[in-house]
Amino acid sequence: MLRSALIKASESAALRRAVTRWRLPRSVAMRFVAGDTLDDGLDTSRALVRAGKTVTLDYLGESVTDADEARAAAKVYLEALGRIGQEGFDAGVSVKPTQMGLEIDRSLCSDLLGEIVDEAGQVGVHVTLDMEDSDVTEATVALVEELRGAGHAEVGCAVQSYMRRTRADIERLSASGASLRLCKGAYAEPESVAFQSRDDVDGSYAECADYLLAHGTYPRFATHDDRLIDHIRNTAVRLETSRAAFEFQMLYGVRPSLQDALVRDGYRMRVYVPFGEQWYPYLMRRLAERPANVAFFLRALRDT
Ligand code: FDA
Repeated sequence: MLRSALIKASESAALRRAVTRWRLPRSVAMRFVAGDTLDDGLDTSRALVRAGKTVTLDYLGESVTDADEARAAAKVYLEALGRIGQEGFDAGVSVKPTQMGLEIDRSLCSDLLGEIVDEAGQVGVHVTLDMEDSDVTEATVALVEELRGAGHAEVGCAVQSYMRRTRADIERLSASGASLRLCKGAYAEPESVAFQSRDDVDGSYAECADYLLAHGTYPRFATHDDRLIDHIRNTAVRLETSRAAFEFQMLYGVRPSLQDALVRDGYRMRVYVPFGEQWYPYLMRRLAERPANVAFFLRALRDT
């Protein structure tokens, strides 16, 4: 109930305008966001890299309705890739197709992503297309296939274990050699397309993880769930998969001590580092993931 209400709220433009004008939600958001600018994202990334992690940088923004806004967002990614290339640290980027205008003009989206993956290829950086809601799942999978078909080997996407179609998508995308990020899924989806119970979502995650460890290309396991992390570790041991052949991914600000513990154990850990001013929908999804985050938010509100 609370989860769906928060996800619904993440889509409201009126709420976004009201909430982002207010200082307090911004201070809560900064628990999960590196800051407003690319420099903030890079500063946070450098600190994480010094701590033995790698990063994927995300310039916040989604559901863009204006072509110039999409072009401006693509420019920020190009600048980020240039800076990563200059500094030479281990970083990837994560891009939302709807930020590149997918919902207004598919060919614009495809062109902008083409420019980004082209630049990324030149500096040796991997690009993951974030997976958004089910209205754009097929388009996102098809974009990865199209970009890879055009010779861009360094592009893959996220796949969500709550989606019934994901197991098939993983086989389809693995056939093209794409390196995939497996996550549970952060949107509110109907039963017709998505598993609803925690057991089903986790069961699907474990099954997809097994497939990726056995047949995928450098799988990227995005989860903070202890049970699934143990499952992945055990499966890797059973399959004799080296710790360098896959990575764990977690969100900036979420379970940092678990991130450190995995690094100490010799696992690869990539942190998703969002930056930018459009933090409202991202914050609402993080609140939806964990009731304790809502309590933290309400406590901060009470204490102002
Ligand atoms: P689960 O929600 O069961 O959480 C397990 C435990 O982790 C919780 O008990 C809690 O301790 C901790 N935890 C989880 N979320 C927390 C939070 N927000 N704050 C504090 N603690 C938290 N989704 C999507 O739809 N498309 C995408 O492209 C991506 N991309 C992505 C990248 C990366 C690197 C990560 C880690 C996650 C995503 N996600 C995503 C989000 C993902 O789908 C999912 O919503 C969250 O990761 C939470 O799911 P968990 O697997 O962590 O399990």
